[in-house]
Amino acid sequence: MKIRQILGDERLTTSFPLQAYAFGPSPSDSSAAEFGRALPYHDGNHTLVVEDGATTLATASAIPMWQNLRGTVLPMAGVAWVATHPMARRLGHSHALMVRLLGEMREAGHVISALYPFRTSFYQRLGYASLPMARTVTFPVADLEPLLGVDLPGEVDWQPMDTGYDAFRQFNRRLLGERHGFALFPEHHAAGLRDRRDRWVVTATVDEEVVGAVTYRIAGQGGDLRADDLLTSGPRGRALLLRFFAHHIDQVSNVVLTAAPDELPELWAPDLRVRTEAEVSFPGAPPPMARVLAVEGLRGIAVGPGRVSVDLVDDPFIAGRYLFEGSGGRLEVTRTDVTPGRGSSQASGPSATLTSAGLAALVFGALDPLDLAAQRLGSASTEAAAELRSLLPRDTPYLFPPR
Ligand SMILES: CC(C)(COP(=O)(O)OP(=O)(O)OC[C@H]1O[C@@H](n2cnc3c(N)ncnc32)[C@H](O)[C@@H]1OP(=O)(O)O)[C@@H](O)C(=O)NCCC(=O)NCCS
Repeated sequence: MKIRQILGDERLTTSFPLQAYAFGPSPSDSSAAEFGRALPYHDGNHTLVVEDGATTLATASAIPMWQNLRGTVLPMAGVAWVATHPMARRLGHSHALMVRLLGEMREAGHVISALYPFRTSFYQRLGYASLPMARTVTFPVADLEPLLGVDLPGEVDWQPMDTGYDAFRQFNRRLLGERHGFALFPEHHAAGLRDRRDRWVVTATVDEEVVGAVTYRIAGQGGDLRADDLLTSGPRGRALLLRFFAHHIDQVSNVVLTAAPDELPELWAPDLRVRTEAEVSFPGAPPPMARVLAVEGLRGIAVGPGRVSVDLVDDPFIAGRYLFEGSGGRLEVTRTDVTPGRGSSQASGPSATLTSAGLAALVFGALDPLDLAAQRLGSASTEAAAELRSLLPRDTPYLFPPR
C-alpha cells in the first residue's frame, strides 16, 4: 500500500473514477470526455491517492485557498473529494490520507484548513471543529411587494454567469478581506462556476462601489427562484438585491436563498412570511469544519486582552505548550516547551488543556471555553476560561463558498 501525489491527467484514471462513484449518480456513462473537461479545474489542487499495485483504493485533495480569520487573511487548505473505493472502506485509508495531506499542506505554508464533512466525529478526531452553518431562507416572492415602491440609492446589474463572473469574483475578494470566516477559491477552481453557465448573477452598486452580489437560477414559471449565498457588505446591498427579486412576483412562487448564520431574515421586510433553517444531516447537509495547522501562523490576528498558557494535546502537527497573549489587540504566540529561556516563568498563570479541535473552536469564535468540556475538546479552569474568552471572544464565522 502506497500513498503518493498525482498530477495532471493521471487524475483521469486514478482519483476521478473514485470521485465520480462517491459523489455523483451512478451507474452513469461518465465519459472520458467529461473527465477531460473537469481536468483544468483540478490542476492546482494537491491530490493524493492510496494505491495497491495498479489499483487506486482512496483519494483526497486540498485546494489552496485563502480565509479570513478574525480580520486577517491566511493561507487555508480546503479539503475536498475524500473518497475510498467501496471495497476498501473502513480500513483507515481516508484517515491515513488526511494525516498525510494535512502534513504536506502545512509544510507548504497553510496555516488553517476547512472542509464540509461526511460526519463531524471523523474530522473532529483529525483536529477539526464544527462552525455555524449558513441558513436556508424561504419566503413567498409576493411578500417583497412593498420593496417595489421604495426609493433606494444605487443600482443593480443583471448578467449571465459568464459575463458577470469578473464582478462577482471581485466582490468575493472584497468580502474575503472584510468578513470573518469568508474564504476564496483559487482562480483555477472558481472558473468552473463561470464555465458551467447554469446561473444568473446580480450585483448591487452604490456610488460605483459593489455592495452586494448573488447568483441564482429559476426552476420554471410558477416554480422557485433558487439563489445561492446572498453576499452583501451591508444593508444597502441586501435591500437592492431583495428588490431585484421582487421583480419576479408575476413569475415565481418562492425565493429560496442562503444567508450568513447571523442574518435575521424576519427583519428584512414588513409582513414577510419567512422560514429560516439550518438543518444538519450526514452526509447530505453538514455544517462546515475548520482546524489550525500551524499555531505560530496565528500571530497577529485580532484578539482581546488576555494571557493564558495552553497545552495542545493529541495532534500530530500542533501538540505542545504555548503561551497566548493579547498585546495591543494582536495575538502573540510563544512555544514555551521548546523555546530556550521562554519556560515556566513566562508560562505561569492560568492554563488550559485543549485538543486541536478545541483550539479551532475558540480561534474561529464558534464556542465559549466553557463549552469545551462537554464536547471532550479540552478543559479550562474558570480563571483560564475567562482569559480565553477575553482573548478569543465568540464571533460568528461565515464560511463561504458553500459545499
Ligand atoms: C467517507 C469515506 C471517504 C470514508 O473512507 P474510509 O477509507 O472508509 O475511512 P476510514 O477507514 O479512514 O474511516 C472510516 C471509519 O472506519 C473506521 N475504521 C477504520 N479502520 C477500521 C478497521 N480496521 N476496522 C473497523 N473500522 C475501522 C474509522 O474509525 C472510521 O470511523 P470513525 O470515524 O467512527 O472512527 C468513504 O466512506 C466514502 O468514500 N464515502 C463516499 C464519499 C464521501 O462521503 N466522502 C467524504 C467527503 S468529506
